[in-house]
Amino acid sequence: MKCRFSAKEIPTILDFGKMPLGNGFLDSQVDDEYFFNMSVAVNHDIGLIQLEEQPDPSKMFHQEYAFFTRTSNFMVEHFKNVSDEIFSLLNESYSSDNSKYVVEIGSNDGVMLESLVKKNIKCLGVEPSKNVSAVSKKYGVETYEKFFSYDVSKEIISKHQQANIIYAANVFCHIPDINDLAKACANLLKDKGMLIFEDPYLGDVLNKISYDQIYDEHVYLFSCHSIKNIFAKYGLNLIDCKNLTTHGGSMRYYLVKDSQFTESNHLINTFKNEISNGLLDLNSYKEFARKCDFARKKFKERLELYKSNKLKIVGYGATSKSTAILNYCDVGCELIDFIVDTTPIKQGKLTPGKHIPVKDYANFIPHPDVSALFAWNHKKEILQKENNFKGKWITHLYNDLLD
Ligand code: TYD
Repeated sequence: MKCRFSAKEIPTILDFGKMPLGNGFLDSQVDDEYFFNMSVAVNHDIGLIQLEEQPDPSKMFHQEYAFFTRTSNFMVEHFKNVSDEIFSLLNESYSSDNSKYVVEIGSNDGVMLESLVKKNIKCLGVEPSKNVSAVSKKYGVETYEKFFSYDVSKEIISKHQQANIIYAANVFCHIPDINDLAKACANLLKDKGMLIFEDPYLGDVLNKISYDQIYDEHVYLFSCHSIKNIFAKYGLNLIDCKNLTTHGGSMRYYLVKDSQFTESNHLINTFKNEISNGLLDLNSYKEFARKCDFARKKFKERLELYKSNKLKIVGYGATSKSTAILNYCDVGCELIDFIVDTTPIKQGKLTPGKHIPVKDYANFIPHPDVSALFAWNHKKEILQKENNFKGKWITHLYNDLLD
């Protein structure tokens, strides 16, 4: 395929085969379920994994989008910390600006902006999925129900104003036209403004072999090298980064328009680590693909072994990541009885592709001998909550399958 950023021809590294939408939960069995062929290619010059084919975004982000940030207490806490960080930044760096303005791209249910609104900061959320943006409005967050783009950035400026801070979490990796996105951010940001965003980090995916970060919504897995290159083209300079534990390993990026910028020591070290860890080397991606294939076979074998020993298996967390895992590993109802999840609109539905029933997590404790932890990125929170579960936890991750 041609790299979406550079238009250079880039190699395919992994083919997952036929895949449904990660959040495409079904009310009942249907004959015309949507599938696409999921494969990824890499631009290893800048450390950027990308989906070769991506479904139309309107198929994924619509009025029944199944992901609500508020379902995880840790994520609520995480976004509270983000809003505190933004609030401090506004007071320290923009104290003399009387028209402070914060825009969040992909504001979901408004959990981050809500805290700023309560502190009388003028904010705008941009969120195309109407059901989640409705929740955001309920919490007092003004929300623009559109997909963010350069044209939308112009609309926001004409109806509102430029932003001191643009923030986005787990959103930029969803937006296929990365050039338009970077141009839109540069346009919307004040000259002294700061763009802050976070996404699952390619370095963690290669390290943990967490291939489940690759699904229809994640067009990209970024590294610091890729972010530096992409955004510099539009006058936004990467000055700092922060490693995060969210989503199994994420990176927060800090970018400014100011050309007199300096890179933080942490960023300089991260660049060095990306090189020494092979993020700019095609062989690392070949190794990644080999390990994914190993983990795929091992995970199914392990579940089959439990099943042949008459153990009852359930899944924990009907995540979009679990859609990638179940379909890639070819695991369905013959092995997993049901999956528990706290999200009301997922309960009573069937998982995409493999049609495993999703149930309220009140069903969890009495049932299984083995639980496949699909929400593995929330392991700490879930293990605390389920400390009465005496069965066995397993994951699909390479390192957990080695013994
Ligand atoms: P997440 O891993 O953030 O999502 P995705 O892979 O879809 O991006 O989603 C967490 C899912 O796990 C969500 O459907 C809610 C569910 N969940 C529980 O059922 N119980 C819990 O304690 C937590 C933290 C999450």
